[in-house]
Amino acid sequence: MAKIYYASRTAPVNIATLKYWGKRDKDLNLPTNSSISVTLSQKDLRTLTTASCSEVFEKDELWLNGQSHSLDTPRTQQCLSDLRKYREELEARDESLPKLSKMHLHIVSENNFPTAAGLASSAAGFAALISAIAKLYELPQTASDLSKIARKGSGSACRSLFGGYVAWEMGELENGEDSKAVEVAPLSHWPDMKACILVVSDDKKDVPSTSGMQLTVKTSPLFQHRIEKVVPQRFEEMKKSIVEKNFPLFAELTMKDSNSFHATCLDSYPPIFYLNDTSKRIIKLINLLNDSVGEIIAAYTYDAGPNAVIYYEQKNESRVLGLLHAVFKSVDGWQKIDVKSLTPPSIELDPTWGSGVSRVILTEVGAGPQDSDEVLINVETGLPK
Ligand code: DP6
Repeated sequence: MAKIYYASRTAPVNIATLKYWGKRDKDLNLPTNSSISVTLSQKDLRTLTTASCSEVFEKDELWLNGQSHSLDTPRTQQCLSDLRKYREELEARDESLPKLSKMHLHIVSENNFPTAAGLASSAAGFAALISAIAKLYELPQTASDLSKIARKGSGSACRSLFGGYVAWEMGELENGEDSKAVEVAPLSHWPDMKACILVVSDDKKDVPSTSGMQLTVKTSPLFQHRIEKVVPQRFEEMKKSIVEKNFPLFAELTMKDSNSFHATCLDSYPPIFYLNDTSKRIIKLINLLNDSVGEIIAAYTYDAGPNAVIYYEQKNESRVLGLLHAVFKSVDGWQKIDVKSLTPPSIELDPTWGSGVSRVILTEVGAGPQDSDEVLINVETGLPK
């Protein structure tokens, strides 16, 4: 049996606080604006990927959460071809290296969170895929270099190549070589950032982000204002708020940017609605909480769907979760904390507010991609274990 080469890496989910929405080049996946995100802890949400290659593999194959998936999409093919090109450069310089770039790949990937949670996992998925193959190929490229490959898989994936606080700089070049993720601040700079994800139940199928953003670019006049006037200044202010650990400012900018992004969705024609009544109720709750404290201690943000992500600092956990638990206590996910120690809310609650949320995920800022000893592939057969 020919040798099977393999390597495993994990990658995190990230949730944008300044949203990427709009492409200026669809093929290279170049954005119309820069964006910022917080990387979430892999203890709660991560993708683990084992990449393997061998002379005996007959085609590139991917198994995701136990099911076979096609690698034959233009985006994935672009990622694989970029990685193989880097490997070829190494092999051309050193004759003794095995010709991994010529072999087919078998890739096995698993999420540690249920797909049913309704969380977009493509960012962690592409970041883990690229990270694992880069490790298998022993590539010397930096995380920013690899982020350019991940970007071609899915824009938001480029930010999952880093931990902590991350910016995706939109770049100016036509070939996209300067459109990459960079670290704004490492996890250690502001480790007490927490995130509470409220998974909102929803029956309707959302407009996928790829087609949604294209409709917005084409039809929304408000969108032009957003990318020209709003985001450039907000990008600088948000980076500064992170460097200075100024939570009230960071939170205000985060909420305003979520509002701005969803406003451009509503301004698209026909309009796109990602927020439902439960999402809107959570926005009101967070406003009530901040008003009652007289200071911004929590920020909501929403991606292309109804789930809420609430950012807050550890020192305010008791008050923020005190309110959220009082409203959504019947759902799964609270066992992680001692709910008896939470501060009861000072706001009068309506008993009907608790509906529409199916689960909470309590997590926090986390690290970037990591090596893993876990191997998801049977190294004798080259098939998933
Ligand atoms: C609302 O990264 O999923 O989550 O590049 O077409 O794959 P593609 O889009 P994707 O869009 C994410 C949009 C967002 C905002 C964000 O994460 O910045």
